[in-house]
Formats: sequence, C-alpha cells, structure tokens
Amino acid sequence: MDLWWQVVVVVAILSHTAFATVREFDWEVEYKFWYPDCNEGMVMTVNGQFPGPTIRAVAGDTIVVNLTNKLATEGLVIHWHGIRQIGSPWADGAAGVTQCAINPGETFTYKFKVDKSGTHFYHGHYGMQRSAGLYGSLIVDVAKGHKEKLKYDGEFNMLLSDWWHESILSQELGLSSRPMRWIGEAQSILINGRGQFNCSLAAQVSNTTLPMCTFKEGDQCAPQKLNVEPNKTYRIRISSTTALASLNLAIQGHKLVVVEADGNYITPFTTDDIDIYSGESYSVLLTTDQNPSQNYWISVGVRGRKPKTAPALTVLNYVTATASKLPSSPPPITPLWNDFNRSINFSNKIFASIGTPSPPLKVRKRLILLNTQNKIDGFTKWALNNVSLAVPSTPYLGSVKYKVKLGFNRKSPPTSFPMDYDIMNPPRFLNTSQGNGIYTFPFNVTVDVILQNANVIDPNVSEIHPWHLHGHDFWVLGYGGGKFRPGIDEKTYNVKNPPLRNTVVVYPYGWTALRFVTDNPGVWFFHCHIEPHLHMGMGVVFAEGVNRIGKIPDEALGCGLTKQFLINRNRN
Ligand code: C2O
Ligand code: CU
Repeated sequence: MDLWWQVVVVVAILSHTAFATVREFDWEVEYKFWYPDCNEGMVMTVNGQFPGPTIRAVAGDTIVVNLTNKLATEGLVIHWHGIRQIGSPWADGAAGVTQCAINPGETFTYKFKVDKSGTHFYHGHYGMQRSAGLYGSLIVDVAKGHKEKLKYDGEFNMLLSDWWHESILSQELGLSSRPMRWIGEAQSILINGRGQFNCSLAAQVSNTTLPMCTFKEGDQCAPQKLNVEPNKTYRIRISSTTALASLNLAIQGHKLVVVEADGNYITPFTTDDIDIYSGESYSVLLTTDQNPSQNYWISVGVRGRKPKTAPALTVLNYVTATASKLPSSPPPITPLWNDFNRSINFSNKIFASIGTPSPPLKVRKRLILLNTQNKIDGFTKWALNNVSLAVPSTPYLGSVKYKVKLGFNRKSPPTSFPMDYDIMNPPRFLNTSQGNGIYTFPFNVTVDVILQNANVIDPNVSEIHPWHLHGHDFWVLGYGGGKFRPGIDEKTYNVKNPPLRNTVVVYPYGWTALRFVTDNPGVWFFHCHIEPHLHMGMGVVFAEGVNRIGKIPDEALGCGLTKQFLINRNRN
C-alpha cells in the first residue's frame, strides 16, 4: 500500500470512531391529562410530551437514557423496537424477560448502540403501557462519512397509533376477567398522537354522518399538516405502534414509492397505498407532482378487522396553496377490511434491496408455532403449541445467565403441534395451560420459524397477528394459505432476496415462514404485537448463546429470585 492510501485508511478509521457520539437523555415518565382525540384522557408522557420526544441519532452512536419512573403506583420499562441490542441484551426493555420493571421513584439507565440506520420507535413494554401512550420515534441516520442512498429533499415522520377512552387498567382487568371483556375497536386513530373523535375534518366534502370538527389551531388534537413545496421528493417515515389496529395509509392523488421496511432497504416499488401492521415501519418517497394550488388528504384507515373507527386524516399542504384550504374532494377510501388477498399481494411486493445479505441455506432448528385462542378455567387465552405464556416474576435473562433453577420451567415448550390439528375449525379441545418454558438455541445456528394460524374459539374467524422478534432482523421466506406442509412448502420459500424485517404478519388461516441466525447472545421476546393478545399469553421466548452473555447490570436483577443472587454477589 502506498503512503497516500495508508493515510486514507487511517483517516477513515479515525473519522469513523471520532464521530460516534454518546447521546444522553434524562427522561421522566408520568401520566398527564391530555386531549389526544379532542376528548380528555390520561396519557403516559415522557418529560411532559405526548408522544415522547423523538430520538435522532447516527449509526454507530451510543444512546443513554436515564429513565425515571414518576408514575404513582405502576412499574415501568421502555423497549427500543427495532434496535438489536448487540452486546447489551439487558437494555432491551422487556419486563420479565430482560429486566425487572422500574419501580416508582427509581431510575434505570438504558445504554445501547444503534448500529445501523433506519426508522424505529420505542414504547412501554410492561402490562399494556404502550396503549396508554408510552411511545415515540427513534430514527437513525447513516453514519457520518457514508452517504444515504435514498435521494430526497425533505422528510416527515408519521407515528401511527390507536386510542381508547377506557383506561388501560380497566382494559387489563377486562381481558383477565371471566368471562373476558374485550376492549373493542379503538375510539380514534392517531397520527403523531393527534386524532379527532366523533367528527371529521372532511365533513364538508364527504358523505359522512360525522359533524365537522371544532378544535382550534394549536389544540392538542389539531392535526399536523405536512407542508411541502411543489416538485420535490420527500421521505415519509411511517411507523405503527397500534395496540390492535392494522392500518392502511393513502395520500390523495399521489403515488408512494416504498423504499424501507423495519429499518432495512427494500427494492423500491410504487403503490397507491400501504398496509402497515403494529410493530412495522416503512419509508415511502413521495413526489409533489400534483396541482400545486390544491391540498390533498392523507388518510389512515383500519383494515383486517371490521372497522368501527373513523380513518385519521391530515393534509398534504402545498405551500403554494392556501394553508387553511381543505381539499375539495373526499379523502381516499380505505380498501375493504377483509380483502386479505389484497393484503397478501402487498406483502408479496416486498423484496430485499441489492446488497442485503441472503439467508443461510442450512437450517439447524425448526419451530412450527400454532397460534390458537383457548380457555383456561373459563379465562380466554392465546397459546402457541398449546402453551399460553405467563412471564415469571424473575426476568429470564438473569435466571438464564446465573442459572437460577427455580426462575422458570427448564423444560422447553413443544416445537410443533399434532399434524392432524384442524386449523379451519374452532379448537376441538378448548382448554390450554399456562407455561413459562423457553426455547434455547446454541450460538450461531440458523433457525426457521413457521407461524401457523388457525380458527379462533368462535367459528369462521381467524385473526391477523403481527409477530415481532426482539434482538434480530429475520428473513421473511414466504406466506402460504392453509396448513403448512413440511417437505413441500419449503420449496416455495424465497431464499434469493427475502426482505430482512423485525415484524411479520401471519394472515388468517395461513402460515408465514421466517429465518434468523442466533448470533446475538441474549434472551429475546418473540410475540404478537397486538397488545391485548400478548396480555393473554401470545408470545414465546428465545435464549441463544447463553454462555456468551456479558455481566448483567445489577439494576436489571433487583427483583424475584435474582434479587438474592444480587445480594450475595455484592456481599462477596
Ligand atoms: Cu414493539 Cu416486544 O415489542
Ligand atoms: Cu395476535
């Protein structure tokens, strides 16, 4: 290597480390009265804000959040959804899995690296605190000195959620009552924490029965308009942290070019609207090539369940048009809620971009997880291979690392289900049981998971479940209808350019196959991202590379059986 090249290399290495910044935040979480949909309710705020502050970082940065629990009587954790927590599994923020809930008055420090760029978010992960409004955006830009490969002139962030007027404590009680009281459909859909209950921004131009909204500019429920200049391209980052709703987003008169999914670049494709499930994120590019003297509706409606919630609306405002001028025609109509072929079609348009690593072809372990709705003593539960997850009082990470025998059941749950199970009908045996066993994998092996959907307790119903894996991106190998046929359906897998994601949906009566490599020592939650489903047991836990897990900070161990361990460790 000649001298000139050596200089280049040294400068490159230096600049890479020199720019890696530590970004530290002090956060306090407390309830506040708020008007998310123009009705007063209680929301969980971070430093008095709802949604919580956006974290903006650069790939390679270290994030430090000193999180103080200012809630009067509830424990608290925050999960960094989409961040893999490589080397810091104790900072993943899943209560009962990676840490103890932070007690009122206490502070817990999350310290982790954001290793690659992407659109992510964070949210509460204890009880149903995500539903209470504990969420915000986490956006990572490409590392300094690297070029963002997408070209755009500006960007917007749309964090989508759903909102109920009933408190989460009441919802949790209902779900764990006998008979179960279902939370029902949301009162409102929120865009960046803003929605309008029982009124419509588009009352004048559409044939809705809803009255015109009467909020004032500056109210907490007033929508944020997207102010754009004509003939430019904008990146819109869209994430969904809904408790229940599957959503569809469309922007009147404009095409969307989808370029990113769950923090990974995908092969761009053009569409009129996108489906987005809870736990997913997308970036779309939008070119402002329409009549610049008009404004256009942005509409976010419910799909996948019979909608009883009005679409959320806001406005794409061309700065060349009058800001207060509402679009003169009705907003885009959300595609039919139960047109699942349309939904599957959308999923099947997503391919990895060139340069994305492809999956290994040799698979060491395979799990087939049957998703069922069951009963335990008259309580309604969700189960995987007939086990409904009940997270133990000692977080798994500590139990696994320090070999706390009684922390959880050491017998793994079943890796499959009886092949004669009839997925098209309600379960023949309604009863299931609770368990807290986990799946344990060696370090660095390839694992396939097949999610198998089935009929719920009521006849002729099978629900959508968006499954989210902590600690990893996985390859989405494919979707199929009916019961997965081992030895046959593998042949349909896309192993050439499957997208890398952290959340994937299993469609009614269908299956979804995914693959990941156990290269991140830790204990990772894998669960349905529908908050009430998880509350009713719809999750499993993976432990991998256990003997490579580093020293767990004391503050993640201070509950349950690891508490005694901690006392002993500090005595010696
Ligand atoms: Cu976004 Cu375990 O969740
Ligand atoms: Cu679910």
